[in-house]
Amino acid sequence: MHFNAKERECIATLWGKASGHVEALGAEALNRLFKSCPSTKTYFSKMNLEAGSADLKQQGTKILNAIGLASHHLDDMDNALSDLSDLHAFHLRVDPGNFDLLCHNILVVLAIHFPGEFTPAAHAAFDKFLASVSVTLCSKYR
Ligand code: HEM
Repeated sequence: MHFNAKERECIATLWGKASGHVEALGAEALNRLFKSCPSTKTYFSKMNLEAGSADLKQQGTKILNAIGLASHHLDDMDNALSDLSDLHAFHLRVDPGNFDLLCHNILVVLAIHFPGEFTPAAHAAFDKFLASVSVTLCSKYR
């Protein structure tokens, strides 16, 4: 996916705000995902999914750090996320429809915490960016 200069600027600005809070934002996004779409919990059967749990914080941190990595590799996402694509496609076999649900909840959390930066343009750019991350993570399904 191609990102123009304005989109790159929006993604960098929003990620710049979020990057210092990966644990809290990631855990909140997951908590919202599990509350709004309970079927997604089935993939995390071994974890304590209560709001505020250490598992939620740890998993949320991992997800947001991967998104941070992707934000620095907009033109090279396939390579940067290759191992994660293998994991989700071959080992976890997460149904691809779940990615949209998680991305939606990540956007909601960013909008709540950074309303000043979450302009319509930033919303569109970050949505496109997360869709690109999802497509990349689903690219090895067959
Ligand atoms: C694990 C990122 C979407 C289910 C992981 C890990 C990362 C990650 C970084 C840890 C890998 C490791 O420990 O080496 C992402 C990103 C996503 C995404 C960036 C999309 C934006 C999803 C979705 C689901 C899911 C939609 C299911 C609803 C899992 C599960 C694990 C995992 C079950 C393993 C957890 C464990 O038992 O340790 N993901 N993920 N992921 N992901 Fe994802």
